[in-house]
Amino acid sequence: MSRSRNTALNYARENHARFLDELKELVRIPSVSTDPQAQEYMKAAATWVADQLHALGMSHVSIFSTPGHPVVCGEYRCPLSDAKTLLVYGHYDVQPVDPLELWQSPPFEPTVQGDYLFGRGASDMKGQLLVGLKAIESILKTDQLNVHLRFLFEGEEEMGSPNLADFITQNQDRIRSDVALNLDSGILAPDFPSITISLRGLAYFELRVYGPASDLHSGTFGGVVHNPAQVLCELIAGMHDAQGRVTLPGFYDRVRPLDRVEREELARLPLNEDYFLKVTGAPALFGEEGYLPVERIGARPTLEVNGLYSGFIGEGSKTVLPAYAMAKISCRLVPDQDPREVHQQLWDYLEAHAPRTVRWELIQHAASPAAMIEPDRVEVAALSRAMEQVWGVKPAFKREGGSIPVVAQLKSILGMPTILTGFGLPDDNLHAPNERLHLPTWQRGIETLIHFFYNLEE
Ligand code: BES
Ligand code: ZN
Repeated sequence: MSRSRNTALNYARENHARFLDELKELVRIPSVSTDPQAQEYMKAAATWVADQLHALGMSHVSIFSTPGHPVVCGEYRCPLSDAKTLLVYGHYDVQPVDPLELWQSPPFEPTVQGDYLFGRGASDMKGQLLVGLKAIESILKTDQLNVHLRFLFEGEEEMGSPNLADFITQNQDRIRSDVALNLDSGILAPDFPSITISLRGLAYFELRVYGPASDLHSGTFGGVVHNPAQVLCELIAGMHDAQGRVTLPGFYDRVRPLDRVEREELARLPLNEDYFLKVTGAPALFGEEGYLPVERIGARPTLEVNGLYSGFIGEGSKTVLPAYAMAKISCRLVPDQDPREVHQQLWDYLEAHAPRTVRWELIQHAASPAAMIEPDRVEVAALSRAMEQVWGVKPAFKREGGSIPVVAQLKSILGMPTILTGFGLPDDNLHAPNERLHLPTWQRGIETLIHFFYNLEE
């Protein structure tokens, strides 16, 4: 191993404590993108990230305002003019913290316990964002980096990146690179590195059902007015059949089937039923008949109820016939489904099944198609080798069930491919109470990216 590579790795080890302190600073900023009260925090987090880029000596560092939250960009020109350009992507926003009462330490007071750092965003993805910045710092402080870099950090990923496509379109010359390095993914287990080769898309809806003009006494009117809560439940119940398939008309028409080789590859991953029972704590599994759990997550589309509201949910009882019921519903999509078509399919389903006793409204939130990476790229080989250098085993190739809208946006707007990495773990409690980051894996992540950058040069 070359001397410079080792110097960079040693730098990363020697500075672990400071890196962690800096990560805590970032986790302390409550940058919840969907919270209208968090505007100032979003700016503070964007500024924090821009300051890091300045400290790294990056050029053209700017914070761009958008109709939503700011985007941070920056650039590094290496001494070799014909070097490749890599776009480093991250998001500085986080998911909401509720239910707050289930957190064992406050979500924005980062707390180390044993091998973990607890806090909202510690794993998704403030920790991963720093994996990238600290690997780059370790090389730049001890050696030179022989690849050009561009940076794209957004604050709206957790709401579906609604303004990023426009930003990319309007700033093509700032963003265009040979390939994007997206740090927003994870690996299978602390002793099992993996490379993500696909992401599902997302189509997110809010379904509102209106009945009587206002809440009614359920004794005086129950039996003559159709209850919107009941209607909503019946509509939702009809969205799956007894085989666990989604019943929206045309939902599977564009779904790319898995071939035999793909199914064999997926079946080799250590993700059997027992694994899912253990990580989820559910009493039994559910899903589309005829597919393994790992296929249902990686390669089949789904429809989930994310939230339900109607009527009285306080303590004790209240005899009310609610005027209104609402559900948040989202579909995870696979190639080649189109989120706009899925919106139409849900619309058609509601037109066909909603009774005339209610009025309904369908609002569309996030809409993002699925994305695949090109596993044969040299950058994937460089990443795979880096993981092997750190873990001593070859990484598995994994299909991820989550979504990252920028991947499809870069592909469709700039024709840019992405490689996906990141060092979150399935039991990091993403989007849930007590989100945490496994610190030994985090450190290995930084070392992996250092190797990755050196491998790229070879
Ligand atoms: N980092 C996640 C995606 C992810 C989760 C990758 C688990 C690998 C493993 C990302 O920040 C995320 O949660 N995205 C949202 C996107 C949505 C709001 C469009 C998601 O998947 O729910
Ligand atoms: Zn994320």
